[in-house]
Amino acid sequence: MADERFLITGALGCIGAWTVHNLVREGVPVTVFDLATKPRRLQLLLSDDELAKVNFVAGDIADLPAFEGALDENEITHVIHLAGLQVPFCKADPPLGARVNVVGTANVFEAVKRRQERIGKVVYASSVAVFGAPEDYEPGAVMHDDSTLMPHTHYGVYKQANEGTAHVYWLDEGVSSIGFRPYVVYGVGRDQGITSTPTTAMLAAAANLPYHISYGGRTVFQYADDTARAFIQAARANYAGAGAFNLGGFAPDMQDVKDAIDRAAPEAADKITFEDIQLPFPQEVDGSGLEAAIGTVAHKPLAEGVAETVTLFRDLIATGKIDAEAYIAERS
Ligand SMILES: NC(=O)c1ccc[n+]([C@@H]2O[C@H](COP(=O)([O-])OP(=O)(O)OC[C@H]3O[C@@H](n4cnc5c(N)ncnc54)[C@H](O)[C@@H]3O)[C@@H](O)[C@H]2O)c1
Repeated sequence: MADERFLITGALGCIGAWTVHNLVREGVPVTVFDLATKPRRLQLLLSDDELAKVNFVAGDIADLPAFEGALDENEITHVIHLAGLQVPFCKADPPLGARVNVVGTANVFEAVKRRQERIGKVVYASSVAVFGAPEDYEPGAVMHDDSTLMPHTHYGVYKQANEGTAHVYWLDEGVSSIGFRPYVVYGVGRDQGITSTPTTAMLAAAANLPYHISYGGRTVFQYADDTARAFIQAARANYAGAGAFNLGGFAPDMQDVKDAIDRAAPEAADKITFEDIQLPFPQEVDGSGLEAAIGTVAHKPLAEGVAETVTLFRDLIATGKIDAEAYIAERS
């Protein structure tokens, strides 16, 4: 561990911020590679002293020389690739989505291929969006790692391409990789993408304000801190191959999520509502393949993760780090 030097692409995003938070608390040197320059999500999770320990590199993942420069200047040993544009952004501008999500991921693999002696493998974010909607499969089907991929979105198609890129880099060049397929990641910092609205509801409940979650039905929930820890665990795992794995978790109905929010903030119970529509993603996934590859993956019970998130939001509102009304207005 003493010789580890991590680089996280897209580290100013939600999962990235939690990943950096965990690495800094462990005392591991970490470089952030992100197009954005304002560490606003990191500021929600790290103290100023902790932030001062992070090495920031502003760069575009679609720019291979810039990315390679960051790897070499910082003698990086572990890469976690999270940079990407989410569903709404890929829908709004598919060519840009392909540039960032497809070309960017090919760049990460190419750069690691050229440095295999120093960087053991690529750990990257795919998505549950590689699958189709529940009606595309047998009723009640649970998605396994090798279930048929039938993405409904440009974003899902690009993530499927990433998994193919990983497979071919393994076959042709022996570059190992672990791809994660997260689902609904929730927690402080989760503020964009179609599945971010339950987290906004947790913020609204913490502020005792009304909020309508944009979807319902049954989905798999993963606490951002657990997800970040699993990415770090994968980066350290002794693994050869190109696995693309579902990430497990709890599969609640949105009513269960609302109940957990209500318990964490009873005063706001009648203010949180949800739209009763199922997203075009499967209702349940089997995460055992990832655990076989990297070991047991921790999943905080939903009620605990929601309560912790509401508590963190209350603190952030009280200390003026989040303006709840403005935050919610931007996401309604
Ligand atoms: N959050 C979820 O529920 C979820 C679910 C499935 C998959 N994922 C995937 O996990 C990864 C991380 O998700 P997140 O929620 O933290 O995302 P996010 O949207 O919060 O953050 C993405 C980060 O990527 C950066 N970025 C965008 N374009 C870039 C570029 N050209 N070069 C460098 N950086 C760039 C952004 O500035 C941002 O900081 C993404 O690849 C996402 O598709 C997330």
